Amino acid sequence: MEFSVSLFFFLCLLTQSVSSQNAIAPPRGWNSYDSFSWIISQEEFLQNAEVLSQRLFPHGYEYAVVDFLWYRSLDGGDLSFGKENKDEWGRLLPDPDRWPSSIGGHGFKSVADKVHSMGLKFGIHLMAGISTQVVEQNTPILDTETGGVYMEAGKEWHAGDIGIKSRACSWMPKSFMAINLTLGAGRAYLKSIYDLYASWDVDFVKLDCVFGDNLDIDEITTVSGILKELNRSIVLSLSPGVSATPQMARQVSGIVNMYRITGDYWDQWQQMTDHFNVSREFASAKLIGIRGLNDSSWPDLDMLPFGWLTDPGVKQGPHRFTNLSSTEQTTQMTLWSIAKSPLMYGGDMRNLEENTFNLITNPTLLEINSNSSNNMEVCFPFQTPGIRSWIATGSGGKVYVAYFNLNQENSWILMKTSSLGSELPGRSFANCQGQDAWNEMNKVTNETLVADVEPHGCALFVLTCT
Ligand SMILES: *[C@@H]1O[C@H](CO)[C@@H](O)[C@H](O)[C@H]1NC(C)=O
Ligand SMILES: *[C@@H]1O[C@H](CO)[C@@H](O)[C@H](O)[C@H]1NC(C)=O
Ligand SMILES: *[C@@H]1O[C@H](CO)[C@@H](O)[C@H](O)[C@H]1NC(C)=O
Ligand SMILES: *[C@@H]1O[C@H](CO)[C@@H](O)[C@H](O)[C@H]1NC(C)=O
Ligand SMILES: *[C@@H]1O[C@H](CO)[C@@H](O)[C@H](O)[C@H]1NC(C)=O
Ligand SMILES: *[C@@H]1O[C@H](CO)[C@@H](O)[C@H](O)[C@H]1NC(C)=O
Ligand SMILES: *[C@@H]1O[C@H](CO)[C@@H](O)[C@H](O)[C@H]1NC(C)=O
Repeated sequence: MEFSVSLFFFLCLLTQSVSSQNAIAPPRGWNSYDSFSWIISQEEFLQNAEVLSQRLFPHGYEYAVVDFLWYRSLDGGDLSFGKENKDEWGRLLPDPDRWPSSIGGHGFKSVADKVHSMGLKFGIHLMAGISTQVVEQNTPILDTETGGVYMEAGKEWHAGDIGIKSRACSWMPKSFMAINLTLGAGRAYLKSIYDLYASWDVDFVKLDCVFGDNLDIDEITTVSGILKELNRSIVLSLSPGVSATPQMARQVSGIVNMYRITGDYWDQWQQMTDHFNVSREFASAKLIGIRGLNDSSWPDLDMLPFGWLTDPGVKQGPHRFTNLSSTEQTTQMTLWSIAKSPLMYGGDMRNLEENTFNLITNPTLLEINSNSSNNMEVCFPFQTPGIRSWIATGSGGKVYVAYFNLNQENSWILMKTSSLGSELPGRSFANCQGQDAWNEMNKVTNETLVADVEPHGCALFVLTCT
């Protein structure tokens, strides 16, 4: 199986030069979707936030995010359509049955206050555009400047004037449609929404049906501009990422903080293998950690579906354990870390077991995730399909080299440390010391990194090179 090392040099002629990256780290936190689908209640959310603050916050997991349909009644509602709670200006409000502290016009303010008192930050999911029910009810649009109905060209504007019925969200066509943002009233409606949500002290917005196949540049630009004007720093996260391209990312990266580069990720090995190609593409396009909205922006590989989960879109909470083996989970965390993806844990926090906790708080991985540079997939010395290798550099002259074995059989993987010089010109690799974080049997010998990597597994060499 082993090809000569010179082949490695040959294959690597196309790689990139060194560049520095913004040191501000990819966001970390917990999102309710993987374990509660859309049905989470206030009590369940706060229980999860409490464990998040006690166990994961010390490791940088700071955002507690409610995923979609928090405004929808559980009675008779399903994913495609259901009764929504909203105010007189057509702004969606939490379902009072699930979020009792919202009763009396408080929205999520009291939940946000509780989350903040735990030391965490509070996030919500929003669908781009406007709800079909709001358009049909034709509620007036609030002008946040005057506190009255938005007036322009001598008339009062309503939701029915701004919804574009022919541009429904492709995966929720009965529920949401795009807004005509060439209209002042369209922009006023978005402003009224974000003003309300900022008044609840929201810190993070996951804006959905707006990126990848659903790209709506007008909406992203308008929302980003509104957030920038607010007297509050709100992280802007875009979703989903089906067919996302680096070219698309360049259009938005400067005005958002993270954007999904894949579709919804669940605990299926096949989906993870796709993430390797996508992350390679965005890393080589130099999109990791470049300047974003009031901070940096990060290509997002989606959540960590470990521990106790539910299933996509169902009306059910956590009821099954992740399908990923512990080896596959380690591989996922290693890729997400070395590709500097945001880390949003998805499992039920209340049943976070020790193995999962140890993996997602592994100090080496978190250091790589938050504080490494020059992250990239490098050409593999053997022409073996399913073998991948990434490198990154850290503080104090550290070099990280990860091997991934996507195949069903064990693989011996070998690289000469001197070959790293072509990836990281100007640095010396004459003498590298270190070890594999996952398997101490794998050694750094005679300037060679050799690892026996199990199926779906990985090696992670942490080196100091002089
Ligand atoms: C949006 O509004 C503008 C201005 O009224 C109008 O010209 C345009 O046709 C509208 N776009 C859509 C898709 O309805
Ligand atoms: C903006 O925030 C600062 C600091 O939190 C506060 O002092 C100031 O009053 C706020 N301004 C407005 C207009 O809300
Ligand atoms: C992923 O990349 C590999 C080469 O590294 C290539 O053989 C494969 O076709 C790619 N897969 C997809 C789905 O593009
Ligand atoms: C982000 O916004 C907040 C609040 O407006 C401000 O305090 C902070 O300095 C900003 N950060 C950056 C990196 O611009
Ligand atoms: C998890 O695995 C079970 C059986 O092993 C399968 O029925 C189920 O569809 C899988 N779930 C997901 C989300 O992959
Ligand atoms: C992050 O890296 C920089 C330089 O690469 C270093 O100065 C800093 O100490 C590192 N921070 C942590 C938390 O390791
Ligand atoms: C390392 O190099 C030394 C001296 O060149 C040699 O004697 C030894 O056999 C090598 N070890 C391995 C494991 O290749």
